[in-house]
Amino acid sequence: MSRSRSVGETHFFRQPSQFDHMVKVVGARLNRPNSPVRIWSAGCANGAEIYSAVLLLAQRHSLGRGRFTFTGSDFNAHAIEGARLGRFTSWHLRGCSERFREQYFRQADEGAWELNQDIAGQVSFFYHDLLDGAEVETQDVIFCRNVMIYMDPASMARVVDRLYQWLAPDGVLYLGYAEAVLAGDHPGLQLIDSSLAAYRRKTFELTTLPIPVLLPPIPLEPLRPNPIRPRMAGRSEALAFLEEAARFVDSNQPRQASRSLKKSLYLDPSLAVSHYQLGLLELGEQRVEQARRHWRNVITLARRQSPTDTVPGWDSCTWEQLLQWTERQLKRLGESDV
Ligand SMILES: C[S@@+](CC[C@H](N)C(=O)[O-])C[C@H]1O[C@@H](n2cnc3c(N)ncnc32)[C@H](O)[C@@H]1O
Repeated sequence: MSRSRSVGETHFFRQPSQFDHMVKVVGARLNRPNSPVRIWSAGCANGAEIYSAVLLLAQRHSLGRGRFTFTGSDFNAHAIEGARLGRFTSWHLRGCSERFREQYFRQADEGAWELNQDIAGQVSFFYHDLLDGAEVETQDVIFCRNVMIYMDPASMARVVDRLYQWLAPDGVLYLGYAEAVLAGDHPGLQLIDSSLAAYRRKTFELTTLPIPVLLPPIPLEPLRPNPIRPRMAGRSEALAFLEEAARFVDSNQPRQASRSLKKSLYLDPSLAVSHYQLGLLELGEQRVEQARRHWRNVITLARRQSPTDTVPGWDSCTWEQLLQWTERQLKRLGESDV
């Protein structure tokens, strides 16, 4: 895996339309009770990116205790030290309006500008390598812009997948414009607007899901042969239920989605996509053991297949990918031996 080059060029309010968008995203999330809105600049260089977010939000909201967490990280220790100091040159401030400069900075020695401590003190910085670093707490908004431009495609895909893992459901990821073209096809991320290079984490990872009607509940061990099932009614009808479930998911009707998925499994117990999705839905309802059982079924099914073949019902996904995602879900539930 190649290392990325460390190039620290950055300035305040870079790619301003993304910041405007972020302000709206954050405003909507502030309505959640008792939960801070978490904003992370991954590959933060000297901190101009995360400080820009703080400045904009400070203009509109109180930054009072517990409302936000602001974090910046970089794998360049020098950059982190500089970011903590909160000192900038006029060049870094070129995206900053006169109003912001006067309100939040003071001119220090050697032509440097020092950020007001009330703003600088909002941000925690830490050393972190996006390729190999430790797990990071879930975030509502992640900026990872102009960080992956020198990475090879495999490294870039790894970083995007890690960012995806660290994003809250419905959370938003901002990439650099150049990176979006190469990195923007992750199945769990939905492009919000190509002109923004902004992605939302899907609540469910499938785009092709099905929905239910009024069949009897499906047993949760759908791999066990059941002679009274109309086995050969089969795959195509099961896929129709899968599509139906997808529509229910899109319209935020998880219970109906769950029923459709169970119907699809009634018709075809080997439909791994349905198991995978049901696992997500069960977990959403806090039914951890049921989620586990569905995901174990996925693992059993996936291991019987050729890794590079496409998963029925999920055209953009190979068995290998599905296996990896499912193993990851089970590990998150504390299973070590998957
Ligand atoms: C060009 S700067 C971008 C700064 C800021 N994100 C922006 O867009 O204005 C790229 C930063 O990414 C950091 N970086 C590159 N690869 C990284 C990695 N694998 N993990 C963490 N940081 C990385 C570099 O050290 C550098 O500070």
